[in-house]
Amino acid sequence: MKTVKDILDQKGREVFTIESSATVLDAIRLLADKGIGALVVVRDGDPIGLFSERDYTCKVVLTGRRSESTPVEDIMSRELVAVGPDTPVDECMALMTEKRIRHLPVLDGGKLVGLVSIGDIVKDIISQQQVVIEQLERYVYYS
Ligand SMILES: NC(=O)c1ccc[n+]([C@@H]2O[C@H](COP(=O)([O-])OP(=O)(O)OC[C@H]3O[C@@H](n4cnc5c(N)ncnc54)[C@H](O)[C@@H]3O)[C@@H](O)[C@H]2O)c1
Repeated sequence: MKTVKDILDQKGREVFTIESSATVLDAIRLLADKGIGALVVVRDGDPIGLFSERDYTCKVVLTGRRSESTPVEDIMSRELVAVGPDTPVDECMALMTEKRIRHLPVLDGGKLVGLVSIGDIVKDIISQQQVVIEQLERYVYYS
């Protein structure tokens, strides 16, 4: 069974984070610069929340807050839904669907060791299905 660790082995373990006291403007600049949709929010090195494009659109743009002066910690999602390196890929998909989220930080003993997104999970599930299809095709054609 494939796990989060298998995905991290392929995509890498770097995690883009932002300090809780940084401004929303700093956060969206980092999102744009890295071409990603979410940042793990840290305080004193510990992950305490997640800041996503959705947090920006719903809690800043729609409410008229100023991104230059609003700290990330005021609008971040405080419930940090995370997985471990041994969590099965299917479980990540179920968790993302149930919680309606698109990014899962990966924690190992409380330490941030990676992040998987819905795109990473879908890509992995599609490649697993492709393997099954190829095996079935070989079975049908050569048996
Ligand atoms: N071809 C691929 O390998 C691949 C992988 C993932 C996503 N995508 C595509 O990118 C688009 C957007 O993807 P998404 O909605 O999954 O989310 P996204 O744009 O936030 O993520 C894109 C990639 O950046 C990584 N990432 C995001 N935030 C990160 C962070 N804070 N620290 C470290 N890595 C971070 C993700 O794990 C993912 O690999 C979709 O169209 C998706 O299909 C492609």
